[in-house]
Amino acid sequence: MLTVKNLNKTYSDGTQALKEVNLELPSGMIGLLGPNGAGKSSLMRTLACLQHADSGSITFNDIDVLNSPNTLRSVLGYLPQYFGVYPHMSCQALLEHIAVLKGLSHAEIKQQTSELLDITNLTQAANKKVSRFSGGMRQRFGIAQALLGKPQLLIMDEPTAGLDPLERERLHDVLVNVSEQKLVLLSTHIVEDIENLCHHAALINKGTITDSHSISQLINPLNDSVWTVPIDSVLPDTSVVLNKQYHFGQPSLRVFNKTSPCVDAIPVSACLQDRYFLEQSEAMA
Ligand SMILES: Nc1ncnc2c1ncn2[C@@H]1O[C@H](COP(=O)(O)OP(=O)(O)O)[C@@H](O)[C@H]1O
Ligand SMILES: [Mg+2]
Repeated sequence: MLTVKNLNKTYSDGTQALKEVNLELPSGMIGLLGPNGAGKSSLMRTLACLQHADSGSITFNDIDVLNSPNTLRSVLGYLPQYFGVYPHMSCQALLEHIAVLKGLSHAEIKQQTSELLDITNLTQAANKKVSRFSGGMRQRFGIAQALLGKPQLLIMDEPTAGLDPLERERLHDVLVNVSEQKLVLLSTHIVEDIENLCHHAALINKGTITDSHSISQLINPLNDSVWTVPIDSVLPDTSVVLNKQYHFGQPSLRVFNKTSPCVDAIPVSACLQDRYFLEQSEAMA
């Protein structure tokens, strides 16, 4: 269990990236969902003890994270949003190098690197330079290095950004397989990834957590209240336009309203994306 209380973070230029963040996260695969600039990376870097918080507390199981960063580091795996690599090192050599830096014994290094290359489907590419990897391979390598030392808390900042559909699917397989008996916190602005992978999500906007629940609890308030309507519909004041969507190039609107907003409205089942857009529109209001 990860508990965050009244966490604040302001950068030296005065940007307040986190404002009174409160969170209680269970184990398993957890999504952190918010638009660009919401504060996802700021929260993750603070959780990973890579930057100081102004105030607040973080506990992971029995660890007081902000006061015992080294204890946290011994159970932490972290994949940053921008993962740099040494250009001339092979996949295997770099993984072993990071394992040494993490303080693993010789026997652990041998066993874990071979196991992690296998899990992340990189055994065939073990002797290739990581700098020559495709985006998906590089992200899988990022996960392999984050898993060295068998962390109990795995923090991954936008691991699926920029991947093609097949690469994303491969990465999803890896993530689902490693999430057992761990807390895996995954940030993204891709709602679909969270719907596919996570059982719980925290929504973040402008540095504040606006909700944190199971995916079904997040969606339930929208049940029987989402409609698609023709683009030129006249809508009641009570309705909120969630987004404009296209199907075979034809536009329509996706609308939130407790009752049918117009004669042509077609009821559709609510999804996390609807909740996300509703959050954005309320945040803008
Ligand atoms: N090192 C930094 N110095 C100053 N401002 C920053 C820094 N890192 C992030 N920010 C600002 O903090 C806010 C949150 O950024 P970030 O945590 O990167 O959001 P996200 O990961 O959700 O896109 C943004 O306004 C961003 O410009
Ligand atoms: Mg980010």
